[in-house]
Amino acid sequence: MFSKFKRTNSNNDETNQLDLNNIPNHIAIIMDGNGRWAQRKHLPRVAGHREGMQTVKKITVAASNLGIKVLSLYAFSTENWKRPNDEVNYLMQLPINFFQTFVPDLIKNNVKVMVMGDISKLPEGTQKAVYDAIEQTAGCTGMVLNFALNYGGRIEIVEAAKQAAMEVSDGKIEVDQIDENLLSSLMMTGSLAEFEDPELLIRTSGEQRISNFMLWQLAYSEFVFVDEHWPDFDDDSLKNAIISYQGRHRRFGGLDKK
Ligand code: FPP
Repeated sequence: MFSKFKRTNSNNDETNQLDLNNIPNHIAIIMDGNGRWAQRKHLPRVAGHREGMQTVKKITVAASNLGIKVLSLYAFSTENWKRPNDEVNYLMQLPINFFQTFVPDLIKNNVKVMVMGDISKLPEGTQKAVYDAIEQTAGCTGMVLNFALNYGGRIEIVEAAKQAAMEVSDGKIEVDQIDENLLSSLMMTGSLAEFEDPELLIRTSGEQRISNFMLWQLAYSEFVFVDEHWPDFDDDSLKNAIISYQGRHRRFGGLDKK
């Protein structure tokens, strides 16, 4: 079967070796399954989010050690506000806990924090934690850890289109100058320049959807779906997802080179 969207269990690829010369520059992850992980253990859903935060720490260090340039993590979508208040409040507290405990490790690993999404709608304490972390890691030159917080892929495209329209109405550009490069630069990943598009998207927990995540940037990405819930995802799961990516033939709509 020629399915690009092949499901990959983390142990499937153990026989294959990781090719350190073909590590994707940008990996995006939809960290799904925290709630189900907790339910399975008869714990409240938020216990899954707490454990999920620990996984974020482990995977950040693992990704940085592998030489990945950008790790984009879907932490809170524009749709997640529909969850019960208690859960939303807990999720809003997580970045505060995360940065309070982890900024020294981020600096030690030369990791720079970046955030995409409408931060202005987050509680003040969460905004402050985010801005402090961005400032504290501003001098780091290694991997960019890009959190999507109150992020939606469609609204990102709408905002970029509005910005382009404004540039036309202000007489800065002609309509004909609106092209893919211009829109890419107007996306929230614009500052990542050549690393703005993930080569690999990973989604945990068995679901095979992109749920409004990086719709523009994922146009040519390889998708790897794993059955593990996010709190169970570990360094080996990451390596196996990359091995799976390395087995794909990326043609960008063209043909294989002879
Ligand atoms: C999806 O699982 C997960 C989320 C909506 C939250 C993701 C947040 C973390 C992993 C915590 C780390 C965050 C930071 C900022 C360090 P789900 O709740 O939808 O799981 P389910 O589908 O099993 O219910």
